[in-house]
Amino acid sequence: MNSRIPDPSKPVIAILTTSDRVKQFRGNRNNFRDIIRTGREMGFLVYVVTTRDLKLEERTVNGYVPSPSGKLWYSIPVPLPQVIYNRISNREEEERAPVARKIAECLEHDHIKLYNPSFFNKWDLFEWLKASRATSKHVPKTRRLRSSNTLIAMLSTHDSLYLKPESGKAGKGIMRLKYREDVSLPYRLQIQSGKKNATYKAASMDRLWARISKEKKQSRYIVQQAIQLATHHGRPFDLRVLLQKNGRGGWAVTGIGARLAGARSITTHVPRGGSIEEPATMLEGTFGPERAAAILKNVPTTALLIARQIERASEMMLGEMSMDLGVDEAGDLWFFEANSRPMKFDEPAIRKLSLERIFQYSQHLARMNK
Ligand SMILES: Nc1ncnc2c1ncn2[C@@H]1O[C@H](COP(=O)(O)OP(=O)(O)O)[C@@H](O)[C@H]1O
Ligand SMILES: [Mg+2]
Repeated sequence: MNSRIPDPSKPVIAILTTSDRVKQFRGNRNNFRDIIRTGREMGFLVYVVTTRDLKLEERTVNGYVPSPSGKLWYSIPVPLPQVIYNRISNREEEERAPVARKIAECLEHDHIKLYNPSFFNKWDLFEWLKASRATSKHVPKTRRLRSSNTLIAMLSTHDSLYLKPESGKAGKGIMRLKYREDVSLPYRLQIQSGKKNATYKAASMDRLWARISKEKKQSRYIVQQAIQLATHHGRPFDLRVLLQKNGRGGWAVTGIGARLAGARSITTHVPRGGSIEEPATMLEGTFGPERAAAILKNVPTTALLIARQIERASEMMLGEMSMDLGVDEAGDLWFFEANSRPMKFDEPAIRKLSLERIFQYSQHLARMNK
């Protein structure tokens, strides 16, 4: 590992995760290694800490750092952090009582700054964005899916709908419903579960609702107007925007990527056959170079508006988020979701800047503390 002596004038940074009986701690080790390498190169002392090891009343805590080869992780005593970068990997972990308590303690602590305290809920996001005029126009019509009446009401104005778990990610549990009046089985439900994509056709709302209930089980869902996405060679694509706070504490767009849906997939996720693409190339196919450039120019402005509104309405201290935006056939931008624990972007330039910004923003936070 490339390292240098940490600069004592720089804050100590901890990457927060949860413990694991077998493999010490959870989370994406490659990502943690990249973050630590970048931090060290920038002169920071940075380590991984579990919510269990982070004892705020102690002077030192047990932190994990990678061995020189990067294959092993050593547990070593390190000073308490000034800034905590929250990378707890899933909601269930985060909601466990001891974990939630530790996060609350950090948020109350006088000398520690923890940002991105929790995952977003899809329904909350839509409520927050509907509350502002500037952002509401980018929000597809969305309701909580409580009964078949919600579907009937939504189908009266939209013939294609997305059904999504409020706490979902990576396309898990997403369904698409289409209604066609003129056929004997008018309801057509596409279900994305596991690696497969199944289609179910129903003659009546009762049958359809039974199938949906079986699929969604007890989880809460939202139902949303399907946006007719622009396509590339017949496949829909969407834009992934990474937003982070910079060294001055302001929101900035770190990068924009595009994800093209796999054949017959109802989402654009790479694990479901989707691919990483160049946004300009995707847009030029449908809109031509000039309009494509104009649309692309609009993306940062819109994404920044949305990020600021999410932060304001959520009342959380946020430092980064990724955002999925759709482009419809008219070139308008639609918000699908934002994620407060963004997955890593594989585009090299975006990746590099995203790692550096974690530390630039952390440095800003530490300065605010003094
Ligand atoms: N309302 C919608 N209209 C059209 N496509 C949608 C809609 N909602 C979701 N999608 C597609 O499904 C993908 C996944 O939806 P998203 O809300 O991001 O869920 P997840 O949390 O599982 O990633 C989006 O990136 C987009 O390609
Ligand atoms: Mg998504």
